[in-house]
Amino acid sequence: MHAPSSLSFFFVSLLALAPEVSSSPCNPKPQEKAVYFITNEEVNAVAALPIGPDGKLSKGTVTETGGAGSFGLNSTLLPATPDALISQSAITVSGKHVFAVNAGSNSLSVLSISHSDPTKLKLLGEPAAVPGEFVNTVAVSAKNGLACVATTGSVAGVSCAPFSKKKGLGKFDALRPFELEQSTPPVGPANTVSQVLFNEDESVLYAIVKGNPAVGRAGFVSSFPVSEGGVSQDGTRSSASGTDILFGSQVIPGTNNLLVTDPGFGSAIISIDPATHEATTIGLGEVEGQSATCWSTISPDTGRAFITDFGVNRLIEVSVEDASIISITDLSETGALGLTDARAVGDFVYALAAGNGTVEAAVTVVDVSGEGSLLQHFGVGDIAGTRAQGLAVLV
Ligand SMILES: *[C@@H]1O[C@H](CO)[C@@H](O)[C@H](O)[C@H]1NC(C)=O
Ligand SMILES: *[C@@H]1O[C@H](CO)[C@@H](O)[C@H](O)[C@H]1NC(C)=O
Repeated sequence: MHAPSSLSFFFVSLLALAPEVSSSPCNPKPQEKAVYFITNEEVNAVAALPIGPDGKLSKGTVTETGGAGSFGLNSTLLPATPDALISQSAITVSGKHVFAVNAGSNSLSVLSISHSDPTKLKLLGEPAAVPGEFVNTVAVSAKNGLACVATTGSVAGVSCAPFSKKKGLGKFDALRPFELEQSTPPVGPANTVSQVLFNEDESVLYAIVKGNPAVGRAGFVSSFPVSEGGVSQDGTRSSASGTDILFGSQVIPGTNNLLVTDPGFGSAIISIDPATHEATTIGLGEVEGQSATCWSTISPDTGRAFITDFGVNRLIEVSVEDASIISITDLSETGALGLTDARAVGDFVYALAAGNGTVEAAVTVVDVSGEGSLLQHFGVGDIAGTRAQGLAVLV
């Protein structure tokens, strides 16, 4: 599940209150958890893999989104895979709904999750048109009944639409523009939007935007206050010293702080003043030997934080106090190139490892109950290739 960690807490506490349902051999309890990602192919689809009681994944389903995927370009103007959308949170789960971006057709799809089987998805209506190009990240606020996206092509910015279980997804509002002078598809990773996410009480929407060191443009966090009237059209931009190419970020529970990754050096803890929206740096965590540290996840259950790198195949736990490294789990035995979007749930971390045409796409499962160790490397080459993006979990 994507950032609203308060949401996860909410569901966790609900679960804790629910009476224990016993299962019998004749009436096995259905699988309740699943991992989701988008294939992001020309015919875009959501892949759903069930999570077993032991944390392991098994074969799941693929459901078309009704839209098209896409990919950005890297500095040599070649497909930016396995970082196809140059973003975190290309897919988000909220309640019993999956929200998936269609970067190639500038729209957002909503799919409902069956109550009896979390891998059974149903597309709700048509994908909703987004007033921008190359939509690459989505955040949902259940509290405010909102789905917000960012686009990072030649028309870049943030747009939000009302969402309710009853009425589904409404019309996206006017774009809150970012003047990135990008193309469609964008050339990254510098100078693109990385992510949208809500703060803990869902009163502010953050958009995380990478700087462009080549032209001396700093990366920034744009904060948009959320009120009953919706999301403000005006964002306050602020840059935190020592950071530049701000990438996948997470709200640290109980604080106004964010864990942000930066492929320039590793990760950082920054604080966003709730009144002024000013960003200040609390800690910079340099990761030696890193190549592209771009994704982060914080376990809603344990509060522990992890970061991934698509060029170095390992999972790194970092401190939510100062971004210093706590432990490194080497995963090179899987043969994957590295990891992209990830989610920490309970004792496990699930991370997408997109393929490169030779190396098969997979979801890597790391057991972090003790010293981190590889639990499973689940190949998904039959359903996903080099462009797969995002990772969300239903718990
Ligand atoms: C750009 O991506 C291609 C794969 O599409 C890769 O071979 C190449 O090394 C990348 N270039 C840079 C500068 O990252
Ligand atoms: C994929 O990565 C592997 C390992 O780095 C490399 O040997 C192979 O040539 C790559 N394949 C493509 C199509 O780039």
